[in-house]
Amino acid sequence: MKQNLKNARRSPWSAIAVILAGLILTGSGFVAATASTSAASDSPYTASQVDQGHKLFLSNCASCHGKNAEGTANAPSLYGVGAASVLFQVETGRMPGAISGPQLEVKPVQFKQSDIDAMAAWVASLAPGPSAPTAAYLAQKGDASRGGQIFRINCAMCHNAVGAGGALTGGKYAPALTHTSAAHIYEAMITGPQNMPVFSNSDLTLTDKTDIITYLQAVQTNPSIGGFDLGNLGPVVEGLFMWIFMLGGLVLLTMWLGAKSN
Ligand code: HEC
Ligand code: HEC
Repeated sequence: MKQNLKNARRSPWSAIAVILAGLILTGSGFVAATASTSAASDSPYTASQVDQGHKLFLSNCASCHGKNAEGTANAPSLYGVGAASVLFQVETGRMPGAISGPQLEVKPVQFKQSDIDAMAAWVASLAPGPSAPTAAYLAQKGDASRGGQIFRINCAMCHNAVGAGGALTGGKYAPALTHTSAAHIYEAMITGPQNMPVFSNSDLTLTDKTDIITYLQAVQTNPSIGGFDLGNLGPVVEGLFMWIFMLGGLVLLTMWLGAKSN
């Protein structure tokens, strides 16, 4: 008996069997581990939401994005864009898209919230992607003045220093952020709609994003300190205002004086 075992161990087949068993064990262990983590991160949605979302997608979005959201000549693939992108696009009325100019426009929202959530659930089920913001982002408990600094460095060149919006090249524009909700600010940063860059968590950390959201919400609720704010557009507009009205007034005055003396 002892002799048999020894022989069996020495045989080349037993080595192969041991290696195979090891590979199968680590492989299935890995699959189990990753499956359980991905199931945990997808958990906010139920299977029936995913189903309903697929049906809604087929009748409202597939004509442009393809039956499986694989993308067509008219619209990009939605693999990996995540729930965050769907929530942002549909809740701001940008989607379903209607191409009428250089930039897809904000329109009245066309779906009820439960339908939007269902479509987000289906798109999120296709491939991992950014999910909806957690309550910590929406609480606006960050540092507003630090958020203002980060905003001026990363966002003001397109959106203006107080988020009043601005023109870009080719007839495109960065919209005013004076009415944008905290969730949509987060979703815009993490998904980068149209000409806006994506700000991943390595570009702007979680704290940076919370601070920016706190800053923008503070600007929205801050009452004007009085006087003419001229749209809060800054020194160029203020200079232009002086130039046109003050200098213009002086010119008119001299013309009037000249006309009077004749
Ligand atoms: C008329 C065509 C059209 C229809 C219909 C349409 N889309 Fe789109 N969609 C587009 C185009 C074009 C873009 C790309 C915009 C860009 O980035 O320039 C887009 C972009 C998107 C994005 C952003 C993808 C990203 O990269 O983050 C999402 C999400 C999206 N669509 C979801 C939807 C959903 C959900 C529906 C249905 C309710 C829908 N779309 C219907 C044309 C369409
Ligand atoms: C290169 C220019 C550019 C930069 C930089 C930029 N954005 Fe944008 N942003 C845009 C454009 C263009 C849009 C409109 C996209 C669309 O309509 O799909 C936009 C849209 C948005 C929206 C959606 C507004 C709405 O009314 O729905 C938010 C919020 C936003 N940006 C926040 C930010 C923040 C915060 C930063 C800095 C971290 C930033 N953006 C940096 C160009 C920019």
